[in-house]
Amino acid sequence: MGLEHMQNIKLLENARVVMVADTDENSRQLAAKECPEARVVEDYEVLLADESVDVIVVCTPNCHHIHVLRKAIPSRVRHILVEKPLCTTVEHCQEVAELVAEHMGPETGRIFWVGMEYRYMPPIARLLEHVDNGEVGKLHMVHIREHRFPFLLKVGNWNRFAENTGGTLVEKCCHFWDLMRRILQGAKAVRVYATGGMDVNHIGETYEVDGVKKRPDIIDNAFVSIDFDNGARGCLDLCMFAEDRQHEEVHVVGSTGKIHAEAPACVVTMHKPQPASSRVPPPKGRYEQHTTNESTAVPQALLEAGHHEGATFYELEAFVNAVQNGGDAVVTIEDGIEAVAMGVAAELSIKEKRVVEMQEVMALIDSTGPASAGAAGSGPVAASASSSGSTAAAEEEHAAKRHKSKL
Ligand SMILES: NC(=O)c1ccc[n+]([C@@H]2O[C@H](COP(=O)([O-])OP(=O)(O)OC[C@H]3O[C@@H](n4cnc5c(N)ncnc54)[C@H](O)[C@@H]3O)[C@@H](O)[C@H]2O)c1
Repeated sequence: MGLEHMQNIKLLENARVVMVADTDENSRQLAAKECPEARVVEDYEVLLADESVDVIVVCTPNCHHIHVLRKAIPSRVRHILVEKPLCTTVEHCQEVAELVAEHMGPETGRIFWVGMEYRYMPPIARLLEHVDNGEVGKLHMVHIREHRFPFLLKVGNWNRFAENTGGTLVEKCCHFWDLMRRILQGAKAVRVYATGGMDVNHIGETYEVDGVKKRPDIIDNAFVSIDFDNGARGCLDLCMFAEDRQHEEVHVVGSTGKIHAEAPACVVTMHKPQPASSRVPPPKGRYEQHTTNESTAVPQALLEAGHHEGATFYELEAFVNAVQNGGDAVVTIEDGIEAVAMGVAAELSIKEKRVVEMQEVMALIDSTGPASAGAAGSGPVAASASSSGSTAAAEEEHAAKRHKSKL
């Protein structure tokens, strides 16, 4: 992913790569080839201390985010974009939130941004515009499907083990939890039920870790259902042995319509169902009559600079603009924590074959930590405390009270 960031930063007019740190010799060579003018070093602490660096993008393996952030947040570097997932556990997320509150509060003008680039994928960004404009009415259901190829090989095979990634439903699906919350205007998950397993991929693989042969433990398919605190429902359908492409569909159903976005096709479809009062199904052609189709073209240069339909470019563009114009993080630390927590809950649900209440996962975080007080909107612990009654009425009340800023 580091290379994809470099390729896209090169397309920005107002940013350049001045330094790259990577512990792997081959990765350093690839970085030097991609950005010959940049200084390439092995130790990221050298990068953090270098006067030429204003902003860093953290793209180390998930389990290393915490180590890098522990040093980077108190460092001289001004702004930080950290790749998803924020961390692999909610405890580490909380530790980062405390560091951010201490060193990167609003008065410092420093930006801490969590990389959730699916928000910037053109068809999904268009879907968000329609939803934000209220074009499908009150939102009730969000369904996301990703059917794709198996996890790719990574440096040192770190992604074969849940200990390093957080588990598939944290590592991969934090994007989808974040999207569900973003579509639902910042709603929070209340409970999660998931069923899934490692049924096809990685079964014959073994890797030597610290002298011990280990088998991968990452799930490759799942169905996950989520109740949100505003009464909406979410559903994820993930399969990582389904298609030779990364195929994502997002369906949002509101009280007055349904909208659907798809990648890589980059199409958005909106349908407005008509009142049905007949004893027979709607006539042929009525669906088409009340359906609009759009395509969201992506410039060729952006398609060639990565694997996310231009999302990496648009995310970096928004981040750099916020940095240069004194803006705020669009994807906040709170968003990063919520996405990890939902993934942790889903992984636990599969492991223990039961419904997991989000307050159970959030209880792993110290309720006295500054993250709950310092994050925008209500913090993660406040959320779990106020939904402790877990009745629908209490959840609705909590949702209504919560400050729903546009994310
Ligand atoms: N936004 C997305 O859609 C997306 C896609 C892929 C990966 N990612 C995220 O990007 C991050 C990196 O994933 P990747 O696919 O590039 O993995 P990768 O294994 O291809 O690359 C990780 C690099 O980090 C280096 N590294 C490891 N420890 C380090 C340390 N302590 N200091 C400096 N460098 C270190 C490795 O040598 C390697 O070159 C992960 O957090 C992953 O979840 C995001």
